Amino acid sequence: MPEKTLKLDATQEGLLQAAHILRSGGLVAIPTETVYGLAGDARNDTAVARIFEAKGRPHFNPLIVHVSDLAMARKLAVFDAMAEAVAAAFWPGALTLVLPLRPDAGLSPLVTAGLQSVAIRMPDHAVAHHLLQTFGGPLAAPSANPSGRVSPTKAIHVERGLGGRIDAILEGGDCQVGLESTILGLDGPPVLLRPGGIPLEALEAMLGPIGHGGNAAKPNAPGQLASHYAPEAGVRLGVTQPDPGEIWVGFGPGCTGAQISLSANGDLVEAAANLFQSLLDADKLAGPDGRIGYAPIPEIGLGRAINDRLRRAAAPRPQTI
Ligand code: TXA
Ligand code: MG
Repeated sequence: MPEKTLKLDATQEGLLQAAHILRSGGLVAIPTETVYGLAGDARNDTAVARIFEAKGRPHFNPLIVHVSDLAMARKLAVFDAMAEAVAAAFWPGALTLVLPLRPDAGLSPLVTAGLQSVAIRMPDHAVAHHLLQTFGGPLAAPSANPSGRVSPTKAIHVERGLGGRIDAILEGGDCQVGLESTILGLDGPPVLLRPGGIPLEALEAMLGPIGHGGNAAKPNAPGQLASHYAPEAGVRLGVTQPDPGEIWVGFGPGCTGAQISLSANGDLVEAAANLFQSLLDADKLAGPDGRIGYAPIPEIGLGRAINDRLRRAAAPRPQTI
């Protein structure tokens, strides 16, 4: 964790420095028109794990990916005619679209929380736009506040909440919208996943009546997207001695013989960065009727979020038809 949080001005030099920090896997709080976001390279597992660590989030929810332009967005998600039309009408702006993830998107699976969809938005803010251009890639950015606190609309709010926990804050003045983006699910019939800066009426004027998608703040709540989180193989937790034939996912130096390790030296940021990939890899090794055993993870810091996700993976499955 950085000792000191740099304050960067939105000058050419400040933007170059912010982009450099992001390229090295660091975290920079950035202004957008909605709220300040805590940005990290969306393709870098460790950077994304650090976002959750810095916010102190007790669970991994999927994050919004910010892009500078449509060309960047089209590399990440599949845009059908409706998605193209909505993007043309509302981007840049306070609207996030949830779209099918492209298999070659190259995003960290932690950004999408292992889902086959991705939330994308093109911010309408000159500083955010120039930074995204300078960086040249997608940035994952939830609101730049500690978990459970209100979203920041000024750089000073970010400093009070996350100073000393992140690498830099890019100054960009007050956020004009002041609340988060509206989230529209377009990976099926249009559905409102979170009300926000763009009114529902504006979307309905274009698309007709839009259904409500329940609690998008908890897309992993029971019944919602739950199946996406579970591997096909059965999962057992707290395994210090794997059963015969069980794929063992280790954590820490004691797990000799584990086929996969979340972190050989017991680093929770590294373990979080590897978590979703480990579920996919272990599932492949185990096969559909196989079994996966995860070594115990301490219930501290990012360990809480890791255990939350693993408990979901290990929970009894609802019957699918
Ligand atoms: O205004 C905003 O949108 C701010 C600024 C910084 O851009 N960002 C923001 O990001 O609020 P974030 O990462 O906190 O938003 C996460 C929410 C999740 O809680 C979930 O509701 C939704 O985005 N989300 C992300 N990916 C999703 C997916 N694949 N399917 C459904 N919902 C998703
Ligand atoms: Mg937030």
